[in-house]
Amino acid sequence: MKRALITGATSGIGMQMALYLHRNGWELVLSGRNEKVLRRMADKFGRNTKYIALDLADRDAPEKLYQFCQGMQIDFLINNAGFGVFGEFTETSLETELELLDVNVRAVHILTKLFLRDFVKRDRGIILNVASSAGFLSGPLLSSYYASKNYVVRLTTAIREELRRKGSNVQIGALCPGPVDTNFNNRAGVTFSAKPITPRYAAIYGIEGSFEGKGLMIPTLGMKLAVIASKFVPEEIAVRFVYELQKRKEIS
Ligand SMILES: NC(=O)c1ccc[n+]([C@@H]2O[C@H](COP(=O)([O-])OP(=O)(O)OC[C@H]3O[C@@H](n4cnc5c(N)ncnc54)[C@H](OP(=O)(O)O)[C@@H]3O)[C@@H](O)[C@H]2O)c1
Repeated sequence: MKRALITGATSGIGMQMALYLHRNGWELVLSGRNEKVLRRMADKFGRNTKYIALDLADRDAPEKLYQFCQGMQIDFLINNAGFGVFGEFTETSLETELELLDVNVRAVHILTKLFLRDFVKRDRGIILNVASSAGFLSGPLLSSYYASKNYVVRLTTAIREELRRKGSNVQIGALCPGPVDTNFNNRAGVTFSAKPITPRYAAIYGIEGSFEGKGLMIPTLGMKLAVIASKFVPEEIAVRFVYELQKRKEIS
């Protein structure tokens, strides 16, 4: 029996990943802040499901989560928890943005390092970091969110190359979707400017892609083409386009 740890399992993409892995016979360790939802999921999935409620913005939370998993062999780490903050950089809350950096960057960094060391020793294991297509661009009006996802994409790609050069059997990849229909927009305080995909589709795409050893996983053809096109456009032009796109997300 194989076991996966999923952060942000209480909603959206993370919850769909949990459902999919459970249906495919995986045992799960679920994490998020909402203990009620975690308990409900564990009750539904059965005795072998473990859960721990914690706020990944708390200083010691990533290490606490790692400690919680000691004694259970984790084969698949999914760093999925994350959120966005919308608004002009001078207007947005510094406190909320520092929390964003703690969850989207610091926790992903710490958990990736701690579990990767174990995986490398065993020469087995998979890490899936849920980044975003925002990870390939600068994002005015969602600046800290885009910057945080750039960090996740770059970190993941660099580690992947180190593993490849060692001939390691450990896999690492990043899921980089465009808009997904989850609670993300409510929390960020925005609406959709493009048609979203379902969280189930994003979840299965990321998990199956990880099993196939894929690196950067962009779920739709439209978003794949947009990411490729952005490479051929000067940064100062691309950023203007992203501003217009983000502006349309504003809830008036
Ligand atoms: N939706 C999109 O359009 C989209 C597109 C690209 C990438 N993504 C990425 O996909 C990932 C999942 O987001 P989603 O779209 O599924 O949104 P969601 O429905 O809001 O789910 C976010 C998950 O992250 C957890 N989380 C948030 N803050 C946390 C904290 N401080 N500590 C611990 N857990 C925390 C939430 O759990 P609790 O509330 O229980 O804490 C929840 O389970 C994120 O990394 C997001 O950046 C989303």
